[in-house]
Amino acid sequence: MNRRRLLSGASAAGATAVAAPSFANAPRPRTYGEAVKVTWRPLDPSGGTPEIVRAGTLAANSHNTQPWRFIVSDKQIVIGPDFSRRCPAVDPDDHHLFASLGCAVENMVQAAAALGFDAEARVDVTNPDRVGIALDRRPPARNELTDAITQRQCTRDAFDGRALSAEHLSALGKAGTADGVECLLVTERPRMDAMLDYVNQGNTIQMRDEAFMRELIHWIRFNDAMAIKHLDGLAARSSGNPSLPAWLARRLLPFVMTESGENDKYAKHVRSSAGIAVFSTRQNDKLGWIAAGRAYQRFALRATALGIRQAFLNQPAEVASLRPQIAAYLGIADRRPDLIVRFGRGPMLPPSLRRPIEAVIDKS
Ligand SMILES: Cc1cc2nc3c(=O)[nH]c(=O)nc-3n(C[C@H](O)[C@H](O)[C@H](O)COP(=O)(O)O)c2cc1C
Repeated sequence: MNRRRLLSGASAAGATAVAAPSFANAPRPRTYGEAVKVTWRPLDPSGGTPEIVRAGTLAANSHNTQPWRFIVSDKQIVIGPDFSRRCPAVDPDDHHLFASLGCAVENMVQAAAALGFDAEARVDVTNPDRVGIALDRRPPARNELTDAITQRQCTRDAFDGRALSAEHLSALGKAGTADGVECLLVTERPRMDAMLDYVNQGNTIQMRDEAFMRELIHWIRFNDAMAIKHLDGLAARSSGNPSLPAWLARRLLPFVMTESGENDKYAKHVRSSAGIAVFSTRQNDKLGWIAAGRAYQRFALRATALGIRQAFLNQPAEVASLRPQIAAYLGIADRRPDLIVRFGRGPMLPPSLRRPIEAVIDKS
């Protein structure tokens, strides 16, 4: 498969480049609610390339590290990795980092349509770590996926246990399937239970790994003030937890975040879900990982447009010894299981935050 085709995408229509309001040119928000409003405000149809970048930053990304840098010119936006935000314990080969870049690429390609650009994503031949998104003006064309960019979230809560219609399952499967990426939907209860077993094995291995726990805790924002200060990381509220003083939360953590407590939580999460989606690729390299991120993000946007929630259960894809086991169980032994995601219906949680675009754009 050629590289260009692997990363090429859909798109849209003509707009003026107007700096979008952000934290950088407004007073810092005082409350978590205010920060959410600024972060997730609807896309400004006249916002031009800065709004396309902002759409990119709203994508799902591992531990909400926001591991990206952007270079913006009239005709192109280039996205590349910010290796200072690597997570070597959970992501030693940078798989999740490049999948996160793929998520951002997909959001930008979809947003471009509504903001008045045709967009085509392709790998930068001078630096294969980077993806260039070539922009051509055309009339704006909103669609359901662009509207979903500012409404999507990973919802780390139980869902309502109801099955989805065949029509909705088909729409999700289609959205998650792309060049080289397969989206396998598992909806049979015995198979979901078998996958839960792998999730719990992975969780147990990760929670016994000091480096993994240290890294995870580094990215947890225990209270609103911490979340607003950093504008990244895993905000307590977004995981359904209370906002507590950091010193207290750190002391309580070993008692409230236990192996059995977390495994019980995942059992509840899986058993209340309508299904589990597994994104896998044959091309186990940066290009394949970016493609997997793009496919997942498109799946998440389609789910959001249909009022369906989704959240990751990546443990068996993250623990190297479990990856071939779950792949063999699912009958995809020739592919890398890249991302594992449960889905279903249920209420939303408070959204996570993002740094302003000024913090992630470099001069060309
Ligand atoms: C490649 C990748 C891996 C992720 N892995 C996990 C995971 O294992 N568990 C989890 O709860 N969330 C996972 N996430 C979700 C991120 O934590 C989430 O996208 C981030 O905190 C921002 O929140 P939001 O997507 O709700 O805006 C992952 C996201 C990506 C893109």
